[in-house]
Amino acid sequence: MFTSTIFRGVGRAVIRASALRSSPNTFNRAAFGAATRSFSVTSSARKDEKGEHGEYEKMLTGAKPGAAGDHEGSFSRTDKRIQVEYPEEADYPRGQPVQGRGGFHFKRTLASFSLEDKVAVVTGGARGLGLVMSQACVVSGADVAIVDLNKEEGERQAQLIMQTFKDENPGADLIPKVTAHYADVSDPESVKGTMAEIVESHGKVDHLVTSAGFTENFDAIQYPIDRVRKLWSVNVDGTYLWACEVAKHLMERKASGNIVMIGSMSGAIVNVPQPQAPYNAAKAAVRHLASSLAVEWAHAGIRVNVISPGYMLTALTKKILDENPELHRKWVSLIPQGKMGRPEDLMGAVTFLLSDAAEYITGADLRVDGGYTIT
Ligand SMILES: NC(=O)c1ccc[n+]([C@@H]2O[C@H](COP(=O)([O-])OP(=O)(O)OC[C@H]3O[C@@H](n4cnc5c(N)ncnc54)[C@H](O)[C@@H]3O)[C@@H](O)[C@H]2O)c1
Repeated sequence: MFTSTIFRGVGRAVIRASALRSSPNTFNRAAFGAATRSFSVTSSARKDEKGEHGEYEKMLTGAKPGAAGDHEGSFSRTDKRIQVEYPEEADYPRGQPVQGRGGFHFKRTLASFSLEDKVAVVTGGARGLGLVMSQACVVSGADVAIVDLNKEEGERQAQLIMQTFKDENPGADLIPKVTAHYADVSDPESVKGTMAEIVESHGKVDHLVTSAGFTENFDAIQYPIDRVRKLWSVNVDGTYLWACEVAKHLMERKASGNIVMIGSMSGAIVNVPQPQAPYNAAKAAVRHLASSLAVEWAHAGIRVNVISPGYMLTALTKKILDENPELHRKWVSLIPQGKMGRPEDLMGAVTFLLSDAAEYITGADLRVDGGYTIT
């Protein structure tokens, strides 16, 4: 959920783990590991319980800010000093294909989950969640076109996915086709050109997964507007442009197809403590874009859904959190399941939403967040 490929490291004050440790008002609280989010009581509920001038009422409405002590609101606030440090592009940890789940097997399952004979485009597919979801499509029977700024890594991963398939399915006569293509998803011309290249290579496109995106942590008032615009253009325009391009292609072919947009739980809640208002707004936009396009394109047999991941432990987040153990503890303390998600946790979700098993599901937001957003 937080990958800044653009502008990285420009004029940004970065808080490292060591700095966090010397900041007692943020992370070094005694109750840190067992933190739960604070809750509020509505004034009508308070009146019912204790009467308009009861003890409760006086304590909660008459108290001055800070009267409840040092902990007041501390688990549900952003802290502008918290800025996650992202590695340089060349230092990004590389992903590996998921092993041991992809072979033909003899477990009974619904045939409607299969993506056989389909072609799926996955933006941001060279790394992280997009890479694992590309593999999920391949394992489920589809051919895949990986789209990414980093074409070289996309090509390397395309080869690895095909090789993993061969290793896990010795003797299979049909090897899935996985290709890699360059596009800057925020650039309409680039998107058009890449879509044409994919159709030329695969003959058609049936499904789309939009995983290209990134986040940054900035105090809203300090956030340079050109960076905000860049973030919105990749996360929102990039999703919109690809969805329109694929929908147009499907309508021209008079074919049905499905789109899964990768949003984030940040589109529904406000993460703490790192400030990231524009990212949160972008992911809320993605969520409602999916609902709106689901209605607009339902007549054409195109379903549009959103997956909203919570905190996922990709190679990148693992590297960052290993350097920031306090931040790791804070995040995990807010997740009911008590752990971060694995990228593989999205494999079933994306396969399901793209498949015929989800035939009557459109405009839905499938949260894959360990329960984060329900507390
Ligand atoms: N990792 C998480 O915890 C998490 C949680 C919730 C949501 N998400 C969302 O999931 C998506 C994938 O996140 P990730 O953690 O896999 O990130 P990642 O940085 O590992 O992968 C993102 C990929 O998108 C590509 N990309 C970035 N900008 C692009 C552009 N303009 N054009 C084409 N490709 C571009 C990158 O090169 C990279 O390969 C993002 O939209 C992110 O917001 C992630």
